[in-house]
Amino acid sequence: SPSRRYNIALLPGDGIGPEVIAVAKDVLNLAASFEGIGIDYKEMPVGGAALDLTGVPLPDETLLAAKQSDAVLFGAIGGYKWDDYPKHLKPETGLLQLRKGLEVFANLRPATVFPQLVDASTLKREVAEGVDLMVVRELTGGIYFGQPRGFKTSENGEEIGFNTEVYSAQEIDRVAHVAFKNARKRQGRVCSVDKANVLEASILWRKRVTAIAEEYPDVELSHMYIDNAAMQLIREPKQFDTILTNNIFGDILSDAASMVTGSIGMLPSASLRESGPGLFEPIHGSAPDIAGQDKANPLATVLSAAMLLKYGLGEENAAKRIEAAVLDTLDRGFRTGDIYSAGCKRVGCKEMGEELLKSIDSHK
Ligand code: NAI
Ligand code: MG
Repeated sequence: SPSRRYNIALLPGDGIGPEVIAVAKDVLNLAASFEGIGIDYKEMPVGGAALDLTGVPLPDETLLAAKQSDAVLFGAIGGYKWDDYPKHLKPETGLLQLRKGLEVFANLRPATVFPQLVDASTLKREVAEGVDLMVVRELTGGIYFGQPRGFKTSENGEEIGFNTEVYSAQEIDRVAHVAFKNARKRQGRVCSVDKANVLEASILWRKRVTAIAEEYPDVELSHMYIDNAAMQLIREPKQFDTILTNNIFGDILSDAASMVTGSIGMLPSASLRESGPGLFEPIHGSAPDIAGQDKANPLATVLSAAMLLKYGLGEENAAKRIEAAVLDTLDRGFRTGDIYSAGCKRVGCKEMGEELLKSIDSHK
């Protein structure tokens, strides 16, 4: 019988969410079982599925199950059916409430160019080849949450909209620790991205990150201004290992970084805090245009399950089994429509899942 057991909250959501979660669950189970790990799932409604069932996009029971779990595996939410709902009832609001409710302040987004898919990138082969970076984005602070914010009218009657970029030392320190620890498991380099030549919040950011770096003498720290970083990411993405940045810069940079790889159906994410369950989800949405047709690429969710094992449970060996299966399945030529190229074997979501299971099985 398994020597270690974990509770996973499974939140499939809408559209292709349930399709990719079904594959990821099977893959997770098999990889875990080979490492002597047992997993108990609690499947809960979220997003539009929860709206239809309970009238709200994040039922209290779902948030509670997520909080009481060891980790949360999330599919995707949203769909045409709920597009005209008021903002507080939109499926997307359920996801924001979940992130906030779990207080996951560090968002990890790897951007890896798989050798088999290098031509999917819009960048030249020699620029894209070998890219393997990770954006660590602060997720619960900065200008998205800073006060004061709002609208007002100026003395001459003009309309004004305003927001505040604000970071405390504690908010910076905790996400910096995540980035340095993460870099240790990678190439040992952190590039902290800010706008310290203009913004006070960035001056504090740079000061705190520099101070925290002293606790990680084995990790190399560099600093870059956001405008230069945006340019460097497209010019020579291989120069980056771990990019540490604030909420708004990370929002933009991580989208840019993900497109270096060229395929939204391949990209996982992890949102973490110091202790307490992390949230693991593909970066894509519910893809209503292909939902229910067995066309979705499950690899982003499967790789999110690998991140769940590695970052959420500390089960690195089981995570490696999943990562190896993804590479092996791509090597054997299997492709869903979004990553298909001539000469490969076109498969649906389910068949991709079956091939992943075969790969794991053959590498016992
Ligand atoms: P999307 O990511 O759902 O789809 C964008 C395009 O990529 C579509 O053509 C889709 O078919 C394709 N695509 C996405 N994931 C794929 C996969 N795994 N395999 C193959 N192709 C894939 O973004 P879109 O269309 O802007 O939004 C659709 C719905 O999803 C909306 O309701 C939106 O609010 C929601 N959404 C939810 C997110 C989440 O749950 N985290 C994130 C982004 C959007
Ligand atoms: Mg974004």
